[in-house]
Amino acid sequence: METIVTGDQLRIEVCYSPALFPVYYQSKNCVVVVIDVFRATSAICTAFQNGVKEIIPVATIEEAKEYKEKGYLVAAERNGEVVDGFDMGNSPFSYMGDEIRGKKVVLTTTNGTKAVERAKAADQLIIGSFLNLKAVCNFLEVSQKNVILLCAGWRDRFNLEDSLFAGAVIYSLSQNPRYTGLADSSLAAKHLYGLAKDDLNAFLASSSHRNRLKRLNLDRDINYCLQENTMDLVPIFEGNALVIHGA
Ligand code: MLT
Repeated sequence: METIVTGDQLRIEVCYSPALFPVYYQSKNCVVVVIDVFRATSAICTAFQNGVKEIIPVATIEEAKEYKEKGYLVAAERNGEVVDGFDMGNSPFSYMGDEIRGKKVVLTTTNGTKAVERAKAADQLIIGSFLNLKAVCNFLEVSQKNVILLCAGWRDRFNLEDSLFAGAVIYSLSQNPRYTGLADSSLAAKHLYGLAKDDLNAFLASSSHRNRLKRLNLDRDINYCLQENTMDLVPIFEGNALVIHGA
């Protein structure tokens, strides 16, 4: 369904799969929020919170290897695990030590960095996670642009955790009268977050990537990524890298 936009209303839509992105992306003049709650966008926010200077997202292991050969610090994850031969994977806990402070990091992940790749031609591409939820909402309200909330999902399929985060953003923005003409995709995400918000972890108990991470003994990462508003920063894509907006 087309979003109904009247007067000076802004459009906010949820794209539940990177494969659908071309359908939603009709003009460069928008902000795209890339969402990969478990765990790429949570790890990216954590890296910046702990002093990383720049993150270069790449879609493939081959590109990541090229950077590694040039001497970069390179993180690579596939299917939740660190890829052999790389410095680290995608756990937010790998981005908390002094050794990453002031560094440039190259990052490739199963879904998150592919979503960035798909959307990087947009006027503004920012990174969202529950950790920086409020900062993302503030950024969007100030930007006064249409918004696409792009869920990285899992291999182009729908996932629950990214959709919940999209719903959390809409829950907050729909207080603002400029965003009230919500598309069906946004209404669905908002209702979903309304059902889940009192206990996100319990709501996600049967979800697939949560259980994949659980099997890998990564419960600590799950709990970490579901915290709301622990940091006041917004990673933004500039040139070929993510940096902190306004830093
Ligand atoms: C991804 O990009 O698919 C995820 O961040 C996977 C993960 O949890 O490492």
